Amino acid sequence: MTDELMRTRIEKATAANKKLAEKLNRRWYPRFHIAAPAGWINDPNGLIHFQGRYHVFFQHHPYSDEWGPMHWGHVSSPDLVTWERHPIALAPSIEEDKDGVFSGSAIVGPDGRLNVFYTGHRWRNGKDGTDGNLQVQCRAISEDGIHFEKLGVVVEGPSELLDFRDPKVWKQGDRYYMVFGAQSADHRGQVWMYVSRDLETWEFDRVVFQDPNPDAYMLECPDLFPLGDHWVLVYCPMGPAKDGYRNRNGHNAGYVVGDWAPSQDFTPLTEYRPLDWGANFYAPQTFEAPDGRRLMFGWMGAFDDPVASQGTDNWAGQLTVPREVLLLDDLQVALRPVAELTRVLPNESDFGSFTVTGAKTLAEDLTCADIELTLDYAASTAERIGLQLADTFVYYDDLAHRVGIDRRQAPVEPRGYRAAPVDPDDELTLRVLVDAGSVEVFAGDTCVSSLTAASDGPRAVTLTAEGGDAVVTACHVRTLD
Ligand code: FRU
Repeated sequence: MTDELMRTRIEKATAANKKLAEKLNRRWYPRFHIAAPAGWINDPNGLIHFQGRYHVFFQHHPYSDEWGPMHWGHVSSPDLVTWERHPIALAPSIEEDKDGVFSGSAIVGPDGRLNVFYTGHRWRNGKDGTDGNLQVQCRAISEDGIHFEKLGVVVEGPSELLDFRDPKVWKQGDRYYMVFGAQSADHRGQVWMYVSRDLETWEFDRVVFQDPNPDAYMLECPDLFPLGDHWVLVYCPMGPAKDGYRNRNGHNAGYVVGDWAPSQDFTPLTEYRPLDWGANFYAPQTFEAPDGRRLMFGWMGAFDDPVASQGTDNWAGQLTVPREVLLLDDLQVALRPVAELTRVLPNESDFGSFTVTGAKTLAEDLTCADIELTLDYAASTAERIGLQLADTFVYYDDLAHRVGIDRRQAPVEPRGYRAAPVDPDDELTLRVLVDAGSVEVFAGDTCVSSLTAASDGPRAVTLTAEGGDAVVTACHVRTLD
């Protein structure tokens, strides 16, 4: 069975996207992060290592830089270092996904073919979300990981539920498990679980988790995976209000560590915690690399307020760098850029150790960098030590014990700042990944990721110390080839 209508839709979308790409403004367009050639992207989907390559699919609206009827964009890589673009993988073409091929995941089937599970999305009122959604879980398969054939609906839920989406599938023992997010009839955010022996027939198992926070009415993009001696449940609760430094974005992603085994509920051992404290981090998904590492990509974008490039530059949204997911002894989940990243930015300058009084320029003009900075805080007197990256200020605040990204000088909205708590003993290492339109900061066990905008002209990198001196014991700056 070939899906002729899907092929036609993919061709049409590809042609429109090519036109859009001709008008792409590259001032903030990523050089080493995944983004669409033009147009809008959101969630990473279908992450998998298949036939020797890492495949990354993503929610994509190829026609404009705004969210719209969702397609799956696609790139792949042999090594997480160099990436190749592929044709759009999935487009709306059947009755059940006519308003969008929503988020989902991938797994290799028993016959060696690639299976993807995604949400077929329809507006309940036929035009928009005001009356809720009509959502089902669908399946598609592929021999080569590039061209897909749709097999239709595999999970149809109680049709009165307004949100029912984002299947994540894995295999354990001789069974396949699927979790996805749902809004219950009484508006609680839940994770539902289905089980299958063959990827074809799925049976309801249980509501494996309900968010104890009654403000959370829907949990988007749940991901349940083993890590160390426990299981981690990652999800994106819709509804909770802002809370100090937390939940500052319209959409926020976090996790709970707990225990789970087949035929059991998920038992939380921790409270819900943010995964990344930045302005743009959402809908993360993980997968297992061939060497057993648990890797994650997140989406850097926003639904609520336009991002800097939107409306002018003909693209919106990118993914984070791939991050390794680690479970620390205190049941904290830590995210670290994968080791492969040093091969993406291989040209290293070693600045040695020095003391900053006022300011020290590291580079006159740098669009992309991987900066690693170790601060001796016991020996420093500075209240804040910062990295001015063109119009973006990345800092460690020794009074508040926070590391942050401040965009107040950005040439366009959005501005404001985000900050994460850090516990800096005597020393703190900051790892700062700078791309043309984004910054990701890793410090201690925490991270902060925001999209950024720089004014025209050179993008200088300057270290600053406020209210005293900063003692830097190591400073490496790596740049792109
Ligand atoms: C999360 C999300 C998912 C949905 C997709 C639609 O960002 O809202 O729940 O499947 O995006 O693009």
